[in-house]
Amino acid sequence: MNRREFLKGTAWMGALAAAGCASDGAVKLGSGVGGSMHGFAVAPLNRVRVGVVGIGNRGSDAARRLSTVPGIDVVAICDIRPERFAITQAKLKKNGKPPAKEYRGKDGWKRLCEADDIDVVYVITGWFEHAMISVYAMKHGKHAFMEVPAAVTVDECWELVETAEKTHRHCMMLENCNYGETETLALNLCQSGALGDILHADCAYIHDLRRNCYQTGRDGYGDYWRLKYNAAHKGNAYPTHGLGPVCWYMDVNRGDRLDYLVSLECRQTGFERYAKEIYGADKEHPWKKNVKVAMGDMNTTLVRTVNGKSIMIQHDVTSPRPYTRHNLVSGTKGAFWGMPWREKGQDMWRVAIEGKCGEGAHEWWVKDSEKGREIEEKYRHPMWREAGAIAKLAGGHGGKDFMMDLRWAYCLQNGLPLDIDVYDTATWSCIVDLSERSVRSGSMPQKVPDFTKGGWKTAKPIGDMTIDLAKLDLNEKQRSLIGRQKSTF
Ligand SMILES: NC(=O)c1ccc[n+]([C@@H]2O[C@H](COP(=O)([O-])OP(=O)(O)OC[C@H]3O[C@@H](n4cnc5c(N)ncnc54)[C@H](O)[C@@H]3O)[C@@H](O)[C@H]2O)c1
Repeated sequence: MNRREFLKGTAWMGALAAAGCASDGAVKLGSGVGGSMHGFAVAPLNRVRVGVVGIGNRGSDAARRLSTVPGIDVVAICDIRPERFAITQAKLKKNGKPPAKEYRGKDGWKRLCEADDIDVVYVITGWFEHAMISVYAMKHGKHAFMEVPAAVTVDECWELVETAEKTHRHCMMLENCNYGETETLALNLCQSGALGDILHADCAYIHDLRRNCYQTGRDGYGDYWRLKYNAAHKGNAYPTHGLGPVCWYMDVNRGDRLDYLVSLECRQTGFERYAKEIYGADKEHPWKKNVKVAMGDMNTTLVRTVNGKSIMIQHDVTSPRPYTRHNLVSGTKGAFWGMPWREKGQDMWRVAIEGKCGEGAHEWWVKDSEKGREIEEKYRHPMWREAGAIAKLAGGHGGKDFMMDLRWAYCLQNGLPLDIDVYDTATWSCIVDLSERSVRSGSMPQKVPDFTKGGWKTAKPIGDMTIDLAKLDLNEKQRSLIGRQKSTF
């Protein structure tokens, strides 16, 4: 049975009823319409049992990280590569955790989704499998959390939305950048009105991944899945690290929504030139000099919202230039630039705020200036104020990975709605397909679907995302670090 046939069938309904973990009691639906998942929450889970599908580079580290989050038990792991299990079990053991149950072979993910001792399926495979596994998980009563992007086609985005609405399961894309220290500072600035009405943002994923894409090992991608995607497709394959935070700054799906986009890209040179130069003489390499890559080196996509805001999203994974997600947001009173550049892993953010109307804001206040420190003290996100040191101890992109996991775990343990819902998951991910369609049609505009079916008009903006650490079962070391990190920068 392929994915489409499975979706048409009704077998999943019985499976959902039969799955023990689907019976977790009261379903709370908040603001929104019809079967809307806006404000959706389930009854509190005492402990959250997680099964990780895909324990490659990111997944095995996710298992390690999750095993340090209070209230989470990593009970199952799954991969099609047998060599990944010992590596992941060793990480759990190092954290003093029991071994997770192993699901091996090509159908292992299905058996894991069908198991009755798992609450959350955490999908960390390459992009092609995210939506398929997440849909199957929800149909078997599990909450589905998946790496970015959640889906690579608009059809898959709709399947995620419709399945979440029918099964009443959470479907959250694991967009860790929304939980970054700099991004949550920017969110606070936007929500407090310090930048005025937000009108525009620049965001991006610019990261030289040529070397990684041509490898499968520790620094590469199993089965060259990322190179295969880039070879066959155009458009922005990885929009959500930049777009996710911006959508929160702009209340997208919560008062506003993405309306349409246009996309354009330069020609392709980076991958092919790299392959020729590095692997030209290596007859054994499966992706040697003759492989053609469709994706242009730099893709630029412009999006307009229904309420008249604009967003620029860029994607470039082949040019020799330093990493950036831009993270620039601009309003009627000022602007914030999260990542003009980075030094020693720190975002060198800056902010400019007009004093009086018309006076202008002609200079940036850099983060390590007196004015920058004032801004940081005033707008630092409470989540980072309280738990910043604990997150940094766990690591993972400067602690933002742990902060994301801590927050959703807290929400599930306290019966709260999740911050990133299925509509955000679908809206942020559908740019992958729509940007490709626009590029292939000479940059013709593409409408962005309203996955909320009108629910965006009444949904509330993202809340304060507080975590009451007293309610969590922190270990001794974590407890000693509460509120310890007053300043990040
Ligand atoms: N949020 C972030 O900051 C961040 C960082 C890195 C990677 N990622 C995302 O994480 C995901 C994984 O990336 P990675 O670098 O770990 O890739 P990877 O190739 O190292 O790992 C993917 C793993 O999934 C396994 N897999 C594939 N199909 C499977 C199936 N049907 N059943 C079970 N296992 C299967 C592969 O064998 C492999 O071990 C990607 O979606 C990537 O975009 C996100």
